[in-house]
Amino acid sequence: MRDLLLRNIAQIATPEGNCAQHGESMQELKLYKNAAVFIQNGRITAVGPDDTISPGIITGNPGIEIIDAGGKCVIPGFVDPHTHFLFGGTRVEEFVDRLNGVPYLELLQRGGGICRTRKDTAEASFAELYAQGKLFLKQMLQLGVTTAEGKSGYGLDLENECKLLAVIQQLQKDQPISLVATYLGAHAIPPEYQDRADAYVDFMVDKVLPVIESQQLAKFVDVFCETGVFTLAQTERILQAAAKCGFGLKLHADEMNSTGGGGLAARLGAVSADHLLAVSEEDIQALAKSPTVAVLLPATAFCMRRPYAPGRHMIDSGCAVALASDFNPGSCYTYSIPLLFALAVMGMHLTMEEALTAMTLNAAAAIGLADSCGSIEPGKQADLLILKESDYRYLVYHTGINMVDHVIKGGEFLW
Ligand code: NIG
Ligand code: FE
Repeated sequence: MRDLLLRNIAQIATPEGNCAQHGESMQELKLYKNAAVFIQNGRITAVGPDDTISPGIITGNPGIEIIDAGGKCVIPGFVDPHTHFLFGGTRVEEFVDRLNGVPYLELLQRGGGICRTRKDTAEASFAELYAQGKLFLKQMLQLGVTTAEGKSGYGLDLENECKLLAVIQQLQKDQPISLVATYLGAHAIPPEYQDRADAYVDFMVDKVLPVIESQQLAKFVDVFCETGVFTLAQTERILQAAAKCGFGLKLHADEMNSTGGGGLAARLGAVSADHLLAVSEEDIQALAKSPTVAVLLPATAFCMRRPYAPGRHMIDSGCAVALASDFNPGSCYTYSIPLLFALAVMGMHLTMEEALTAMTLNAAAAIGLADSCGSIEPGKQADLLILKESDYRYLVYHTGINMVDHVIKGGEFLW
């Protein structure tokens, strides 16, 4: 890989740091005008004003490739820290049912919802899941996503959960987006365990976690902690067992009902608590005091016609907020980053600067990667986006439009 000097950048806009920014520091972007970025071996080694850093770099590194950014804005690659991008089939009929007023949890109780996708996923081969996943990731890349998390959770049994995680592992090798895998066996209670949720928890703890651990199939373990799905006590049992095996912890917390998931995430030192539409004031305060990142998924709230998580209030209270798509076939069949920016700012009242921090550095922190990506600083992976405009504020102003012109991943131009 050749060393690369990216010049003629009208503006670089980036958060800074190796961990999530909390509260008012989410607002603090580093802005450079007329800037350049020097990339060596896929990593950023210098960032600064073009006329200050470029002459020395050019003299000291004969043969480097110099690329003109065309007077545009450069920002860090987006990180999508919560997706369910691997599944068989779709659920367009249920989408229509929900538009007609059938509640999401009722569809799940009827054996639809996640259990419906489970059937379609069991019928799909490794190759089919792989091909479909690869296609989704390609589209995400074109929207500027350079790192993403992907969850299992549509297998539920050992064989199919491992199949999903193995597909993610294969995709990690074969396509450019960096992937992080999460085991989400606790996504629904499978019909064969109906009314025996504790037995399913035993199964995951005793039979599945050791396999995932020994085959290194996932970095995180996640639980759908929700009324009628997994209780707070069951969630804690799974996550305590996962922590003992060395997994990082995540939670689908307080999505439809306030069950105390946000507070549990903070207490267990989870890397993130996600959704939080119905989070209590007490749990907001607990999250604010903890390193746990609050991952907000406004496209899910939008597609479920529910009020957004209290993102503005959470930041004002000192929480570290990240944004993610939650892309999945049920509650949110979209991975649109432009939509996320619009909903975060217009719907949740984040500032544009907070939204950018939430979609980059804080999103990286939500999957334990803030030391290697999420900002444009020496030492970080060279994951950069060249926008179509010279100012990052067009990400929101040009509402719902993909502003990404070029994607640079690990120093290579991909799109
Ligand atoms: O994050 N809430 C649970 N899981 C997903 C939905 C999955 C599905 O409906 O297929 C979510 O919204
Ligand atoms: Fe989710």
